[in-house]
Amino acid sequence: MSPVTSPHTIQLPEPGFAGEVSVEHALQMRRSVRSYKNEPLSISDLSQILWSAQGITTPRGFRTAPSAGALYPLELYVVAGNIINLPSAIYRYRTAEHSLLKIVPGDRRSELSRAALQQSAIKKAPAILLFCAVYERTTEKYGQRGIRYVHMEVGHAAQNACLQAIALGLNTVVIGAFRDTEVKKIADLPAEEQPQYLVPIGRQ
Ligand SMILES: Cc1cc2nc3c(=O)[nH]c(=O)nc-3n(C[C@H](O)[C@H](O)[C@H](O)COP(=O)(O)O)c2cc1C
Repeated sequence: MSPVTSPHTIQLPEPGFAGEVSVEHALQMRRSVRSYKNEPLSISDLSQILWSAQGITTPRGFRTAPSAGALYPLELYVVAGNIINLPSAIYRYRTAEHSLLKIVPGDRRSELSRAALQQSAIKKAPAILLFCAVYERTTEKYGQRGIRYVHMEVGHAAQNACLQAIALGLNTVVIGAFRDTEVKKIADLPAEEQPQYLVPIGRQ
């Protein structure tokens, strides 16, 4: 069980680095899957997937996914609905600490599904990743071209998560169809953070 370091902060288990599934196998097996068994996710699987998307891998703070100018415009959230030893809530992934910070309490999957045009994958998945971005972190240096860079980065990070999920025997689908303003409200996002992608995770 993960230590709860404060009522709002959960330290995640350390990620592993010696999975037995090859990159080639994960690539071969990746498929968009939109319905899942009604089974909880383990916190160690969640920890591993968060790390794969945005985990820090060097003392200088470089991450698993590349970032233009190493400016790191992405913020990653988990909409947790059925995870062992993790209360249902929306959490922000804190990369430096590899921990979760509770942002919105309760199970928000149904609301999120409605914001995503009723897509049922979101309602049924034990957890959904919400990728957000602060464009200004990148456009400050690169101007309008920075917007393109941010979108590329979301793709890199989400693909990492999809392949990591497959390597853990889990399935995903990437979802781009949702109403931004509703998602922002549900996750109580700061004004500068823009939602980019939803990635439900579950077992088929
Ligand atoms: C940018 C983008 C947005 C997508 N949005 C959705 C979506 O809103 N809902 C959905 O069910 N699938 C969505 N998909 C998944 C595609 O439908 C899926 O990748 C495609 O059918 C190919 O299948 P595969 O992923 O199994 O290879 C999206 C994929 C991409 C790349």
